[in-house]
Amino acid sequence: MITPAEFQQASASRHAICGLLGLVALLLINACRQTLFRSKTEPPSVFHWIPYVGSAVSYGMDPVAFFHKYRAKYGDVFTFTLFGRKMTCYLGVEGNDFILNGKHQDVNAEEIYGPLTIPVFGSDVVYDCPNSKLMEQKRFVKFGLTQTALEAHVPLIENEVLDYVKLTSEWKGASGVVDITRAMSEITLFTAARSLQGKEVRQKLTADFAKLYHDLDLGFSPINFLFPGLPLPRNRRRDAAHVKMRAVYLDIIEERRENNLESDAEHDMIWNLMHCSYKNGEPVPDKEIAHMMITLLMGGQHSSSSAGSWILLRLAAHPNIAEELFQEQIWTSSPPEQRGQGNSSSTRLHPLHSPQSEEPPSHCRNPLRGRRRQGAAVLPMVTSTSEEYFRDARSWNPHRWDEPRHNAVEEAAGEAVVDYGYGATTSGARSPYLPFGAGRHRCIGEKFAYLNLGVIVGTLVRNFKFSTMDGKEGVVPPTDHTSMFARPPQPSSIRWARREYN
Ligand code: HEM
Repeated sequence: MITPAEFQQASASRHAICGLLGLVALLLINACRQTLFRSKTEPPSVFHWIPYVGSAVSYGMDPVAFFHKYRAKYGDVFTFTLFGRKMTCYLGVEGNDFILNGKHQDVNAEEIYGPLTIPVFGSDVVYDCPNSKLMEQKRFVKFGLTQTALEAHVPLIENEVLDYVKLTSEWKGASGVVDITRAMSEITLFTAARSLQGKEVRQKLTADFAKLYHDLDLGFSPINFLFPGLPLPRNRRRDAAHVKMRAVYLDIIEERRENNLESDAEHDMIWNLMHCSYKNGEPVPDKEIAHMMITLLMGGQHSSSSAGSWILLRLAAHPNIAEELFQEQIWTSSPPEQRGQGNSSSTRLHPLHSPQSEEPPSHCRNPLRGRRRQGAAVLPMVTSTSEEYFRDARSWNPHRWDEPRHNAVEEAAGEAVVDYGYGATTSGARSPYLPFGAGRHRCIGEKFAYLNLGVIVGTLVRNFKFSTMDGKEGVVPPTDHTSMFARPPQPSSIRWARREYN
């Protein structure tokens, strides 16, 4: 006679077998659906075994390799499944143009970015308002980034870098080791706070503000891209930090207005936004100024910190290029009669170009644009790492920009000038090199980013020599694709040695 325990065991085995058969059936149905019932009119589709999850694992592990692999197999247009959403990829220069200069009703970023960014940036700005309003807001920010304003930032940024290395324990002594990802994230936060955000924000950049920044930053976790609005503790901290951060900016605005400090204040971004009005004549409400300032802080900092870390990692791995950069600075800062003692070949160096073109600057910031319940993916990084356009595409060689061929590539867009509502810009999306995007969502922080990174890197190279931890040249760590900003793994350490002339 069968005992109750045996009965339970047999029943559990039956359930397990049924579950397994069900799973196999599901996989087979999913496979048949993709192979047998594929519409001939639709673009080719990347095969996946697991429904809903689709190609998320291989895409997430290395998006660039993923796109290169399937571009070689299917061409520039194909689809893949990403957590239940069918993504259509448009690659190549035509694909860049098709999506980045697409009509707003056909492709929009709000649907994709909104749930992730609105809790961080706040209401009524960027992706929580009609696109035409975003274009006006971008125009306001552009007003605040004039040549004069940018030039005034140079000494402020340099001082921040010098103070940072003076006050941080990792930089004490004649030589040492530094986690460059942490250093860059702190330095870019200080420099942006001092220059773009204004002196009150920099003064408030104490441990408390840094904690607020950190908590707000938790909102940019990849999980929130996929499943926004989960009641996670990190999301509660993000929401509390947003409210406090907004209060910081509102207090600054109120204090400036009450004490009539506006006219004396440096003409920084807060001052600029306080003097802007929408086309309907309405001045920008204080709450929106606060939210735009949070956007600039959070939006610009990650890309700059990631790009800055890559530049320093590359320079540590290519000391000859770092030396050229150093010589270039000696040359340009010396009186004209002494010039020529430095290495003039370095005057043609473009150090900020290559890390951005060859290290993915911000793949997730590039549009996975919403098209109704489908998605359209465009990845300019595919063209910028393609042999079609760049010889020896994966190698870091700033001197490639000395070749007229590459400058021609960069200017390939050279096309029509358009105005999406934030000022004239070249449509530019046919270029294979688009580190700052193109079209209506193009970066408005580009000039500031170049200036900020140029001064940071210049100041560091003038004062220190860098090398890799094991002394090997040419090698940098792999990209951390689990981060939203394609940054180097954290930590990533390099060695530094103070230059003797100090
Ligand atoms: C190395 C630094 C930076 C890189 C590589 C970078 C890259 C980009 C890219 C690729 C886009 C287009 C995103 C899209 O099409 O969806 C973008 C947009 C934008 N960036 Fe930057 N950026 C940098 C720094 C900054 C800074 C410092 C600021 C602020 C001052 C900033 C503000 C913005 C804004 C407001 C947008 C517009 C978003 C939109 O219209 O949807 N960026 N950036």
